[in-house]
Amino acid sequence: MLKLLFAVTTILFTISPSTHGFDPLDPYGEMIIKWDLLQSSPGHHTVLVKIENKQEYRHVEKPGWKLSWHWVNKTVIWDMRGAETTEQGNCSAFASSETLPHCCLRRPTILDLLPGAPFNMQVSNCCRGGVLTSMSQDRINHVSAFRMTIGSFPDDPGEFTMPYDFDIGVPGYTCSNATSVDPTKYSTDKGRRKTQALATWEAECVYSQTKSSQSPKCCVSLSAFYYQNIVPCPTCSCGFSSSNCVKPGEMPPLLEQKHDPHVEVSPVVQCTNHMCPIHIHWHVKVNYKKYWRVKITATNLNKMKNYSDWNLLVLHPNLNNVTQVFSFNYKPMTPLHKSINDTGMFWGLKFYNDVLLQAGELGNVQTEILLGKDIGNFTFKNGWAFPRRILFNGDECVMPSPDDYPRLPNSASSSSGVSSFVSFVFCFLLLLV
Ligand SMILES: *[C@@H]1O[C@H](CO)[C@@H](O)[C@H](O)[C@H]1NC(C)=O
Ligand SMILES: *[C@@H]1O[C@H](CO)[C@@H](O)[C@H](O)[C@H]1NC(C)=O
Ligand SMILES: *[C@@H]1O[C@H](CO)[C@@H](O)[C@H](O)[C@H]1NC(C)=O
Ligand SMILES: *[C@@H]1O[C@H](CO)[C@@H](O)[C@H](O)[C@H]1NC(C)=O
Ligand SMILES: *[C@@H]1O[C@H](CO)[C@@H](O)[C@H](O)[C@H]1NC(C)=O
Ligand SMILES: *[C@@H]1O[C@H](CO)[C@@H](O)[C@H](O)[C@H]1NC(C)=O
Ligand SMILES: *[C@@H]1O[C@H](CO)[C@@H](O)[C@H](O)[C@H]1NC(C)=O
Repeated sequence: MLKLLFAVTTILFTISPSTHGFDPLDPYGEMIIKWDLLQSSPGHHTVLVKIENKQEYRHVEKPGWKLSWHWVNKTVIWDMRGAETTEQGNCSAFASSETLPHCCLRRPTILDLLPGAPFNMQVSNCCRGGVLTSMSQDRINHVSAFRMTIGSFPDDPGEFTMPYDFDIGVPGYTCSNATSVDPTKYSTDKGRRKTQALATWEAECVYSQTKSSQSPKCCVSLSAFYYQNIVPCPTCSCGFSSSNCVKPGEMPPLLEQKHDPHVEVSPVVQCTNHMCPIHIHWHVKVNYKKYWRVKITATNLNKMKNYSDWNLLVLHPNLNNVTQVFSFNYKPMTPLHKSINDTGMFWGLKFYNDVLLQAGELGNVQTEILLGKDIGNFTFKNGWAFPRRILFNGDECVMPSPDDYPRLPNSASSSSGVSSFVSFVFCFLLLLV
């Protein structure tokens, strides 16, 4: 019964950290939608819209952002560069004009153009298919931009009014209304002169894992050179359904494979006891006198997706003394209000392992890290050598119960069999509820 209670609290805990959209690991992390009014005359306005990903470790992957908003008054988009609306809408009010507007919808939905768009349709920072990198991984490609010329319907006075009800079209994000901020300044003539927008507004979008998805997306298993067993991911970590999984080596049904490229595909995972699309393994590999070595493996079990620009966030007290990281990039992160560096971010090397390929057990990326021991704190006892939290692409991974962690050979015998049986029963109980 105690174990059951533990399982419940674990689930509640793993879901809670980013519920309120505030993330202590990335306190200033948010997405900004910025509107610069560049030119304005009655019935004719030019606007530059920028989407900036100001998050340290969350990114926007394919199929990319899909921005929409609601016009206050009847407004039309005459022309758009660097992006396009998904639909033109009813432009019959302009039937007599020389050219029809680009879009006449009250609520337009905008897509970034794809790479290789015609040169005259581009603006700077456009045309990456809506993909935005995280700030830590790439400080150039974390901004998207497009420009548009807007006007009004014949029966409208045609003043510029900021639209409202923004939606960035990426699961998990909620956006505020836009507020007026200091006008953006543009540097010209090699920085000798600055021009500025007529007016600037900003809306913020924040992420919440609970809003993004009901079930977790990854889990963690553990092992150590001093322990004979592998502690597996908890049973049903990411769900209960065996109907949406395929056996190793099999491909998902054709129906699943043919999908709209503009819609995020729901995962079809390889059947495992945990049912997670991503599996992280932490192995305590070697013990030296002053150092110890850990091997981390991330495996892609999602048949529907290659994870480009993936990243891992790891919390462990010994990350204050990372001596060497093999085959991954590494960046220490100092969480707010913490006096030690216990958090680090790992991601792939460009053109080497920055894409976590979809290939079942073969689709994996690995690193080894060498950590310097702080003699006062280092121990293999009580599971200290294992991570406190791991996040894959910003989503919390489910950890095994501390009772199951690998033990030193001389400590009391383990009860892991019992505990995983209880969690197995637990996941069927959940299924019945
Ligand atoms: C299109 O808009 C015009 C007025 O702008 C309206 O008269 C017409 O009914 C609309 N057509 C449809 C199919 O909604
Ligand atoms: C919106 O349209 C109404 C009438 O259609 C007009 O009275 C009002 O001034 C317009 N608002 C703005 C901000 O243009
Ligand atoms: C945004 O503005 C609209 C229109 O002014 C209003 O109805 C809505 O409640 C506002 N939304 C938020 C989240 O403040
Ligand atoms: C993943 O990438 C491989 C190699 O580039 C490709 O063959 C495969 O079709 C891709 N799979 C998906 C689901 O995009
Ligand atoms: C190491 O132990 C000291 C006290 O012995 C403590 O103040 C410090 O926070 C510990 N460091 C880590 C990384 O846990
Ligand atoms: C954390 O790490 C950064 C960069 O490695 C370093 O500048 C900073 O002093 C460290 N802070 C603490 C509290 O160890
Ligand atoms: C880091 O590891 C080295 C090697 O074991 C050790 O000498 C040093 O004291 C450690 N530093 C901290 C801050 O733990």
